[in-house]
Amino acid sequence: MPPLFSASPCPPPFSAPLPSPDSVVAALRAAGCVFAEDEAELILGAARTAGELTALVDRRVTGLPLELVLGWAEFRGLRISVTPGVFVPRRRTEFLVTEALAHAPDAAVVVDLCCGSGAVGAALAAALGRPEVHAADVDPAAVRCARGNLAAAGGRVHAGDLFDALPDAVRGRVDVLAANVPYVPTGEVGLLPAEARDHEPLVALDGGTDGLDVLRRVAAEAPRWLAPGGCLLVETSERQAPAAVDAFTRAGLTTRLAVSEELYAHVVIGVRD
Ligand SMILES: C[S@@+](CC[C@H](N)C(=O)[O-])C[C@H]1O[C@@H](n2cnc3c(N)ncnc32)[C@H](O)[C@@H]1O
Repeated sequence: MPPLFSASPCPPPFSAPLPSPDSVVAALRAAGCVFAEDEAELILGAARTAGELTALVDRRVTGLPLELVLGWAEFRGLRISVTPGVFVPRRRTEFLVTEALAHAPDAAVVVDLCCGSGAVGAALAAALGRPEVHAADVDPAAVRCARGNLAAAGGRVHAGDLFDALPDAVRGRVDVLAANVPYVPTGEVGLLPAEARDHEPLVALDGGTDGLDVLRRVAAEAPRWLAPGGCLLVETSERQAPAAVDAFTRAGLTTRLAVSEELYAHVVIGVRD
């Protein structure tokens, strides 16, 4: 019997019946998808024809991340578009946004540095009303993707290396500086799940020898961009947290570590006095 979902040179006619939900679940489960039922529901919801469904399932079973199959990721209740070659926003990073809003519920100027898809900036903009939003990334694919996601919020997305990308007019005015930098130690990138290793760019993952190279650069320069009372928030790992806190403190920020057990998220928060 031919496999249920295989690449076919000739797409099925529009009248072809949709494969049953159970067969989609079975195909996903056989490919090792742990949340096969949930994924099947999303994929079935995205496909308008049997041909589309077959194509979507084929992509997923060959290892493409679900978010790239669908073209979007959910982040704090928003649908964030994700395009090939751009880091998929993680649910864990929602904690960074929650902490930013707790610290600065009335923030007027927000920067999403190392923005990737712009999920963090979009979530902050949605929660804050109409802040001035700037986002920046060194990767042109991320800049393009973030421009789409931040257009409705009026966000401006800049291309370039960290703070070099930002307009001078922002200096000293930032209430929330969110930076989900790459923080995987170079030697551990090869240990990441295949979905990350094979589909996300190295520049989005590799944080140098101890994973903290980019974080240290951000911390050192942040005080020049923060408004008085403004805060820098960076996600890190449990193991890296002490060194990350130290980098913030050395930069002159009043620093604390926030932890979400539920999301297994660690966020270093530094305030400019
Ligand atoms: C871990 S991803 C986070 C993306 C996004 N903030 C999110 O949470 O989904 C890190 C991002 O940092 C960007 N990046 C890495 N080095 C950078 C640099 N020197 N300047 C600006 N962006 C950089 C990568 O291109 C990537 O999009």
